[in-house]
Amino acid sequence: MDRRTFLAGTMTSSVMAAASATTAVHASAAESAPAGLTKATLPTPALVVDLEAFEANVNKLADHCREAKVGFRPHAKTHKCPAIAQRQMAAGAKGICTATVPEAEAMAAAGIRGILLCSPIVDAGKIGRMVALASGGADVMLAVGSERQAKLLAEAAEAARVDMAVLVDLDVGDRRTGSLPGEPAVELAKIIGRFKRLHIQGVQAYAGHASHTVGFEKRLETSRIAMLKAAETKLLLQKAGFDAKILSGGSTGTYNIDSAIDGVTELQVGSYIFMDVDYRRIGGKDGQAIYSDFRPSLTVLTTVVNATHADRVTVDAGTKALDTTTANLPQAKDWSGLTYTKAGDEFGALTSEGGKLPALGDRLEFIVPHCDPSVNLYDRLYACRGEKVEAIWPVAARREFAKA
Ligand SMILES: Cc1ncc(COP(=O)(O)O)c(C=O)c1O
Repeated sequence: MDRRTFLAGTMTSSVMAAASATTAVHASAAESAPAGLTKATLPTPALVVDLEAFEANVNKLADHCREAKVGFRPHAKTHKCPAIAQRQMAAGAKGICTATVPEAEAMAAAGIRGILLCSPIVDAGKIGRMVALASGGADVMLAVGSERQAKLLAEAAEAARVDMAVLVDLDVGDRRTGSLPGEPAVELAKIIGRFKRLHIQGVQAYAGHASHTVGFEKRLETSRIAMLKAAETKLLLQKAGFDAKILSGGSTGTYNIDSAIDGVTELQVGSYIFMDVDYRRIGGKDGQAIYSDFRPSLTVLTTVVNATHADRVTVDAGTKALDTTTANLPQAKDWSGLTYTKAGDEFGALTSEGGKLPALGDRLEFIVPHCDPSVNLYDRLYACRGEKVEAIWPVAARREFAKA
């Protein structure tokens, strides 16, 4: 046994116990909210989900997929929250996509089946943890984009005597992860196919360059070019003798484009449950400037904590409460004409076109620029029906950078 195999094997057995213990318990995904808790009494800043809009989004996507006869395996990178994953599964999802090993572990611990790890992992520790999940009875699949990843996965799987399902990850234009489509992908599949513990189920193709393309026609063209490469590659794999049934891809911006492409079997949509400013500005199918297929359901609730100046007020949500790393800024919900500007780690400044500003102590909600990294700043989501906090949803898998 070489050192790599030994390490993978050690990791496998130690994590396996933890994995099977957690899967047996099926962590309670939602917590009940204290009686009488309302938006007016929540400490701010707080991350709030409007259940009416959230449920409408969950159902709309599920209905669309049912009508289009395509599956969906929503992406948990958006929410990192088993309570939400359970609702997506109840709406008919085939499983849940994850971006990190801790996300996959959190979903497995909550009893979610059909977990797909979409991101490449190329170190024995992380691969050992995925194999441990499978050994503990979790239903997991990995997107594999390199020979190195295939080899490490095969070694860990062999050491644990467990079979692993894999998708060949394709780079269909965003130049981020995966093998190039066509012959290079077939070559990678042949390498994967030589490992008897690895079983190819199909391909994964996420076209990140298409999802936020502004303007529906341009988005349609970009996504079609990308996803047709993936569909062709799936056919090439089938011709080469692989049991390639799955083509997993798509996004909130392209759900109604990709679901019409022959060969696409499931959508990896993430942001549709929450929406954000970045997505709202991509434009809708009917030419509207605002993409309104899904409703904004996620906001950061803030309080005006300073009104010293006549021309601006300060809210208690700065860069620690609202991710502002993308091109767009937070947008106030239910208040027109307000502009948010960054005012440091703890604060944001509000100015008004019409001159009307909120008063000291007023509470305002902001649609976030980009939902995934904003959620990553919080431990919990407050699920609200109207003013009432109905449940607390733990964000179970916040980014884990280093944990040996
Ligand atoms: C691998 C993968 N699949 C799917 C998505 C789609 O997510 P969204 O619907 O939020 O654009 C993403 C987003 O970054 C992704 O990285």
